[in-house]
Amino acid sequence: MTNHDVGGNKTESMLREYRRLVEEKLEILMPPAGEPPASLHEAMRYSVLGGGKRFRAMLCLSAHRLFGDPFPEAALQAACSVEMLHAYTLIHDDLPAIDDDDIRRGKASCHARYGEAVAILAGDALQALSFEVLSSCTGPEPSAGLEAVRILSRAAGSRMLVGGQVADIEAEGAAPDGETVRFIHSRKTAELVSASMSLGSVLAAAGPARIAEIGRIGRKVGLAFQIIDDLLDIGGSEKIVGKGLRKDSKRGKITWPACFGADASLKTAERLIDESTAGIRSLGDAEALEYLFRLVIERVS
Ligand code: IPE
Ligand code: IPE
Ligand code: MG
Ligand code: MG
Ligand code: MG
Repeated sequence: MTNHDVGGNKTESMLREYRRLVEEKLEILMPPAGEPPASLHEAMRYSVLGGGKRFRAMLCLSAHRLFGDPFPEAALQAACSVEMLHAYTLIHDDLPAIDDDDIRRGKASCHARYGEAVAILAGDALQALSFEVLSSCTGPEPSAGLEAVRILSRAAGSRMLVGGQVADIEAEGAAPDGETVRFIHSRKTAELVSASMSLGSVLAAAGPARIAEIGRIGRKVGLAFQIIDDLLDIGGSEKIVGKGLRKDSKRGKITWPACFGADASLKTAERLIDESTAGIRSLGDAEALEYLFRLVIERVS
């Protein structure tokens, strides 16, 4: 996201600092590249480190902050756990059997660099590592750690992310249909975005009502995020986005713009972000989250 790197206001520098902390912590949490089997650990590091907007991590940390930032170390571990899980989903999403993409984050995708077998297994191992890291978070009380694991596993499972991915590929070539695209997008993308915010809140002991509200807001933000991803596939710059574009329609993907048109898609994403912003304001001082929500619409990468 471009705006992260410019400007000097307080929120921007805080988010920059969050990003730095996440990069630093991920580096520590990942197995060393030389550890056998070296190909596997290298591939895992290649896909997690040094790339990506860290949007989900920043949402997790900013949601934790909304509730007073009581356990910053736990929130940082959770943020890294989400980024590991996200990296696994990208590795598998790019595989020839799924979207067949050779470029990710401005470089060769994992399977293009390390081969399919290692890429599949690097994804598997990243998912396991993600939960190992999350389960080691020491938050307000042991039940918060368990709740965090429950939230992430639910978001990642067959009823949500993986189910959305299956629906996405099974719908290739079908007639664009609003109900189908909502089913796909809310599962493959929105739930993990929502879980990122929920984890930060649970680890701050925000309480059931506020955690549920954060989850609802996160789903809207996540849906807007995927709508904009679909729009970037049509109108974005490959160099800036760092992945192959103009591929969704070639593959006959059911996307939001394919169902509703580009203009209406942007309007829907804007409305979702406006609603999310209004919702988050009612929960407290949400400057960082508001900033991140706005970036969903303004991003060019
Ligand atoms: C890409 O996610 C996959 C989608 C859900 C659209 P991001 O756009 O957050 O990818 P990175 O982490 O910044 O590379
Ligand atoms: C990916 O959606 C969603 C997940 C990885 C779960 P896309 O297939 O649209 O993501 P990109 O465009 O390849 O990043
Ligand atoms: Mg995909
Ligand atoms: Mg893809
Ligand atoms: Mg896409």
